[in-house]
Amino acid sequence: MTTVAEIFQTMEYGPAPESDKEVVSWLGKHERVFGHYVGGAWTEPGQLFDVINPATSKTIARVTEGTKADVDAAVNAARGALPAWKALPPHARARFLYALARGVQKHSRLLAVLESMDNGKSIRETRDIDIPLVARHFYHHAGWAQLLDSEFAGYEAIGVVGQIIPWNFPLLMLAWKIAPALAAGNTIILKPAEFTPLTALCFAEIAHEIGIPAGVINIVNGHGETGAAIVEHPDVDKIAFTGSTEVGRIIRKATAGSGKKLSLELGGKSPFVVYDDADLDSVVEGVVDAIWFNQGQVCCAGSRLLVQEGIAERLVAKLRARMEKLRVGSPLDKAVDMGAIVAPVQLERIRGLVQQGVSEGATMWQPSWACPTEGCFYPPTLFTDVQPSSTIAQVEIFGPVLVTMTFRTPEESVALANNTPYGLAASIWTESINLALDIAPKIKAGVVWVNSTNMFDAAAGFGGYRESGFGREGGREGMWEYLKQGGGLKVEGGGKVRGAARRTVNAAPSNALTAQRAVHSPSTLNPPPSTLPLIDRTPKLFIAGRQARPDQGYSRRILSPSGRGIGESPEGNRKDIRNAVEAAQSAAKSWGRATGHNRGQILYYIAENLSARAEEFAERIDEMIECGGRRAKQEVDASISRLFTYGAWADKYDGAVHSVPIRGVAIAMNEPIGVIGLACPDEYPLLGMISLVGPAIATGNTTIVIPSQTSPLAATDFYSVLETSDVPAGVINIVTGDKDALAKVLAEHDDVEAVWYFGTRDGVRMTELASASNMKRTWATWHERDWLDTKDGEGREFLRAATQVKNIWVPYGE
Ligand code: NAI
Ligand code: MG
Repeated sequence: MTTVAEIFQTMEYGPAPESDKEVVSWLGKHERVFGHYVGGAWTEPGQLFDVINPATSKTIARVTEGTKADVDAAVNAARGALPAWKALPPHARARFLYALARGVQKHSRLLAVLESMDNGKSIRETRDIDIPLVARHFYHHAGWAQLLDSEFAGYEAIGVVGQIIPWNFPLLMLAWKIAPALAAGNTIILKPAEFTPLTALCFAEIAHEIGIPAGVINIVNGHGETGAAIVEHPDVDKIAFTGSTEVGRIIRKATAGSGKKLSLELGGKSPFVVYDDADLDSVVEGVVDAIWFNQGQVCCAGSRLLVQEGIAERLVAKLRARMEKLRVGSPLDKAVDMGAIVAPVQLERIRGLVQQGVSEGATMWQPSWACPTEGCFYPPTLFTDVQPSSTIAQVEIFGPVLVTMTFRTPEESVALANNTPYGLAASIWTESINLALDIAPKIKAGVVWVNSTNMFDAAAGFGGYRESGFGREGGREGMWEYLKQGGGLKVEGGGKVRGAARRTVNAAPSNALTAQRAVHSPSTLNPPPSTLPLIDRTPKLFIAGRQARPDQGYSRRILSPSGRGIGESPEGNRKDIRNAVEAAQSAAKSWGRATGHNRGQILYYIAENLSARAEEFAERIDEMIECGGRRAKQEVDASISRLFTYGAWADKYDGAVHSVPIRGVAIAMNEPIGVIGLACPDEYPLLGMISLVGPAIATGNTTIVIPSQTSPLAATDFYSVLETSDVPAGVINIVTGDKDALAKVLAEHDDVEAVWYFGTRDGVRMTELASASNMKRTWATWHERDWLDTKDGEGREFLRAATQVKNIWVPYGE
């Protein structure tokens, strides 16, 4: 047995296997045989084909080959589901996408292990990259669904979309396709790649569980012929494809003149360009991520290493040393760098191309260790002495094979980089920002990474130039692929539904949604008969993440319009405001630096917790303002929707790149203002507050909130929602009491950077006058707003007020 001392000497890795138990039990539940998922149900299995684990060569399941009739049925189901899905209010679709993101997260390890077993990629990658990106994609597009009416006004869903995906990132490619299509209101028929059908089926089950209406998502498996049947189906309105350029070309021809919209994400031979001032150790790690990530089976893999002549020898030596340390082996071993190649046919293709490289005269190098002999493994491979015109320098190998070429001048590097019919991605490595930004626009590629590689995010578009395809996936660009100019909703008989495009209040939940909402029945309404007095609920203030007693021991009695006593709220004073400002100041730095994604997550979390207590809040509002149960419910629903709106905006309120009259760019960044005091309108006790807090914190500000003076109890009830929603201490502080008096303290305070005031004309004058002390920004108004109306109550006006723009000029070139 090895001793600890020996291990310490050798630093050997022991095996660190991930358990496949859950996957085995999931497969067992299905008896390892699958039909298609069509119209919200599994179809009877038909003619089956084997699903292989390429690391073991064992059959792990059998899946049905989709026939023309299967495709027909799926298209019919999608067509049938379209009108209702498209007509859902944006918020309702946002809720479904959000639930999908949650569903993926809840089953993340099951999906990660299943993906590893089906595809052969390492658990380290499926667990840390694929599946988190899948969830991220659904979250991001929940946001686009929410903002659809305002951000894509005048546009509507295209209709029934056919989506055909490859095997290299099975679930991630599914997410890239399904999330934007659903957000825009389309219905879907998706065909996974024949080598990797399983995570799509598991996803179908998750979608089913969260209540996606039948027919909205249909999954049909099969080979190229099944794909072709989808492409050729007359009742499909759009095709989205990711895969080889060869098949992309077939699909372009097949759809030509059909009126089908088309987006293609095809192959690449992406350059990885290293200049002689680059940090070589970072370059080595970059190369590992560029070409040995996912065994090199990546459409944007940095597969051509272009090195400036003077450093080539040094870099190649460093690379070989690093390759010697890479570990290839069981994908379920957590300490493995590279797993298996997807299938024997792909392994043969790689072997063949490497052989061709050798016979064309290039020098091939592989590490001294051997790969496992069972299963489809191939070692990391490095070619030097490569001619730019040779096969291995031109053809997409789609394996762990890197070809190296050298150049002398930056000009030559651009020529070499562009010496390919593809144009998907490029990496540029140099310590000189001038050089990087000079080269970036010259390389023909849809994505350019400076001193980095293989970075993906749902908020940034991805897609190619030239033969790498057209259309973008991700970001605002990606949404356009699933939208067309709208003309109202078509109904049977070709008429139009009047006013279908007009949806001012997107708060009304659909029937589909009410069914899945957790019903909370508060016990406060009908207290059981008892001789004991009710337990007193005296609210406090909310400062620095804690409920705090007010400085002075005064409370304000809160009455309903008809004079009924409802409760008491603490009377905050100058000292309480000062404590709150201090808390907001100390939270400002880290909150301002949090990513938009993180801030969005917290806004969604608040919405989720509010939604769980929706009925209780509605009762409270009705009690305070006697507006009737329906109107109170509407206010709560609108508040939840508004939180979603700003959850959505958190990672989308982008800056801009301005065209300035220099050779270069000016990058306009939206920055938070800092600490904002918010004096809320009186009339909507909950929605008024959320409408101000939402945009302020989504953009990275911290806040001191003075809630409705007449009806503050929805705000004090809200403390416990905040406490359970991971809102960092100090981001939202709430001080109840005399609105104008407290607002004046905020406006005079030098550590408050902006004040928003919604109230009386006198209050507006006071706020603007008092804030002159440190020239803080104010947004003060006495005009009434219809807070229920999404045009009046939310959107860019609020985001602009919450941010300030910083312009960063970056000149480049000689
Ligand atoms: P492929 O392009 O044939 O397969 C991609 C998808 O298209 C699969 O779902 C497949 O069933 C489907 N398909 C095949 N023929 C079709 C047709 N006529 N109509 C509609 N759908 C069709 O890729 P394949 O054969 O798996 O791999 C071959 C080569 O393609 C790889 O060696 C690699 O070089 C390249 N490739 C590139 C990808 C990329 O993302 N850039 C992804 C997959 C493969
Ligand atoms: Mg497989």
